[in-house]
Amino acid sequence: MIVKDIINLLYTSLKGGILFSLSHWFIYMAHHLSRLQMKVLYTLTGNIYMIYLEVVTTTRCTLKCRHCIGDIPEIKKDAQYSISFEEYKNYMDNLLKNIKSLKLVRILGGEPLLNKDIDKIIEYALKQSKIKQVYLVTNATVMLSNEVVNVLKKYPQKATVDISNYSANKELASKLKIKEIIEICKQNNISVNCPESYLWNPISPIKYHRRNTKENKRYYRSCASLCVGMHKTPDGGAAVFPCLRAGTLFLRKIGNQTEGKDYFRLDNKLQKEDIMKVHLNEDFDACRYCNFLEDKRKQVLPAIQK
Ligand SMILES: C[S@@+](CC[C@H](N)C(=O)[O-])C[C@H]1O[C@@H](n2cnc3c(N)ncnc32)[C@H](O)[C@@H]1O
Ligand code: SF4
Ligand code: SF4
Repeated sequence: MIVKDIINLLYTSLKGGILFSLSHWFIYMAHHLSRLQMKVLYTLTGNIYMIYLEVVTTTRCTLKCRHCIGDIPEIKKDAQYSISFEEYKNYMDNLLKNIKSLKLVRILGGEPLLNKDIDKIIEYALKQSKIKQVYLVTNATVMLSNEVVNVLKKYPQKATVDISNYSANKELASKLKIKEIIEICKQNNISVNCPESYLWNPISPIKYHRRNTKENKRYYRSCASLCVGMHKTPDGGAAVFPCLRAGTLFLRKIGNQTEGKDYFRLDNKLQKEDIMKVHLNEDFDACRYCNFLEDKRKQVLPAIQK
């Protein structure tokens, strides 16, 4: 018990932790070190120190990007959704009761500012002591509402507005409100990220790639997706997948993803082992439909529209 407590303490004091995104090399290293860190801490302490979660709060979007990494524009009308605050709270409570901490939650979509409960959703995440950082990821086509600003400014140490800067793509010039969003964040002392130039990896259309288990594991490892994405599922529940794209494949009924290996459900039966099994898996069915590794070697303008 004492050993567990000391290890918990050591970990908490090292909470500056692993860098997420200085470059692909850092992402690659961070991905593998994060997984190793979770595994070692779970083995030693029996606790889950989760690193990362992306939450799709709505599949609605103001843009229809050809290379959307989450394949959001591919979701058919009847499979689209927006998560209500009550649903979000229920999903997160089921997760949080099973984990010791969660380093970063990125609230996104689709375009998260289209979710009518987004202020309450953000505030709920910000209030949780187990969640250390909360990012709101926006394509900057929708202005922050007063309600959202009021919530964000209450938590200056914990909240960040993460603007995906699509200004390199001139076809979007009239739609982007980047300056206005930065201005309102500055006025309210809200931390804001906005990378200078932003290029994308092209995303090839979904196609089945015959890869054996060893090849598929290697593919996933090299992809180094730090994404762990939550999607609402058609039964009204929610599940966590290795990346947003995998969740979208599930909604599109493509492939054969298995609960307990390819995803875990955020229901009241959730247990620590379910979370760890998916986090430590490397053979994801979704990766056989993905060409991300080859795509990653090229770059295109961001947010080219369909
Ligand atoms: C799926 S989007 C959702 C949030 C919001 N709609 C947006 O565009 O910012 C999440 C993040 O993925 C990034 N992204 C989407 N497609 C990408 C691609 N092909 N390559 C690199 N990043 C991509 C976006 O720029 C954004 O920062
Ligand atoms: S990347 Fe484009 S299509 Fe995808 S969610 Fe963001 S803005 Fe919408
Ligand atoms: S499906 Fe697999 S290879 Fe493709 S982005 Fe997701 S984790 Fe990476």
